[in-house]
Amino acid sequence: MALERTLSIIKPDAVAKNVIGEIESRFEKAGLRIVAMKMMHLSREKAEGFYAEHKERPFFKDLVDFMTSGPVVVQVLEGEDAIKANRDLMGATNPQEAEAGTIRADFAQSIDANAVHGSDSAASAEREVSYFFADDEICPRA
Ligand code: PPS
Repeated sequence: MALERTLSIIKPDAVAKNVIGEIESRFEKAGLRIVAMKMMHLSREKAEGFYAEHKERPFFKDLVDFMTSGPVVVQVLEGEDAIKANRDLMGATNPQEAEAGTIRADFAQSIDANAVHGSDSAASAEREVSYFFADDEICPRA
């Protein structure tokens, strides 16, 4: 297994529900380390750039509306197999299909307000981490 970094976002619905700490706790209990973190209210431009690969999808406007509707917590998680480990903790994109005990099963309502984002590949993780964080904002702890 390789030491990896992945980008995680706690989305506006989960921030509004006041479950930031509960979600962070799941990452830490699973052995992932938070090596960078910021709370921010995304501009439309920042959200559109982040989701640019989905710009032709029918849900793009709704996704950007949602992601700019309130503050988010953006973070870099580091650990063994961090990309998959984070996605396993999150559960399926649609909370109705997410396994019991996953973050989305426990905290999300619907596919368009699904509590968390996690990079889906090594290439995405690299792009997404550098989209939000400069090298000197990341503090390796492993
Ligand atoms: S794909 O093809 O696997 O990349 O697409 P997917 O992972 O299913 O979805 C990409 C992101 O779009 C969000 N999404 C939606 N938002 C609003 N409405 C609908 N119907 C919808 N379907 C998917 C989904 O939550 C993904 O967001 P992130 O932040 O990447 O989890």
